[in-house]
Amino acid sequence: MKIIETKNYQETSLVAADILAEQVRKKENSVLGLATGSSPEGMYSELIKMYKNGEVDFSKVISVNLDEYFGLGPDNNQSYRYFMNKHLFDHVNIRKEYTYVPDGLTKNPEQECKAYDQLIEDLGGIDLQVLGMGLNGHIGFNEPADYFTAGTHLVCLEESTIEANSRFFASKEEVPTKALSMGLKSILSAKKILLIVHGKAKQEILMKAIHGPVTPQLPASILQLHPNVTVVCSFNE
Ligand code: F6R
Repeated sequence: MKIIETKNYQETSLVAADILAEQVRKKENSVLGLATGSSPEGMYSELIKMYKNGEVDFSKVISVNLDEYFGLGPDNNQSYRYFMNKHLFDHVNIRKEYTYVPDGLTKNPEQECKAYDQLIEDLGGIDLQVLGMGLNGHIGFNEPADYFTAGTHLVCLEESTIEANSRFFASKEEVPTKALSMGLKSILSAKKILLIVHGKAKQEILMKAIHGPVTPQLPASILQLHPNVTVVCSFNE
């Protein structure tokens, strides 16, 4: 595991954007696993700048997102599809039809989850998976549990996750209680993983994830078993 500690969020975002852009330069049709939330937001801004400067070309890139709130559709400004359009896809030359996010409005979550796993397999797996980490150590919406879940699945979000994510909503009551999340098999099958962590509040849990025992109670700890993980982090605030 390679750990790059930077001085602040700005630098974390720049380093992460360089890693992602380098991946796309090396393989123009890369399959990128993408995350939402505040951790990768700065990286997406940097990538938009790089695209506008002609430093990266997304025209052949395919993306698969980690997760989506159950019950929210693309037009809902809290959905992860909406987030991705707003923070990246609408500003670069990625082909929208090759950007995949689980369907939060599915009437048949079980079938949607199976189809999502099949899609990732059909794409030949993920070349670079971007991850953020929750305050409870979750990756995607793989919450602390007694066991690791392999495939895409419908998750009941932990109270602490609902609380943490309520900062993006008008009230806590509006935060969906369930989500569709990629499982740990797809995440760990990615050829490379880029974990972005920012903030003092996440420092201790990150240290446990990197140096402590591998346990489903701290889902990010499973990354210790992956041969090519880069953690870019900053803890200054
Ligand atoms: C989002 C996701 C989550 C977030 C995590 C951290 O697609 O998969 O695991 O990465 O909840 O969220 P932020 O970055 O907002 O602190």
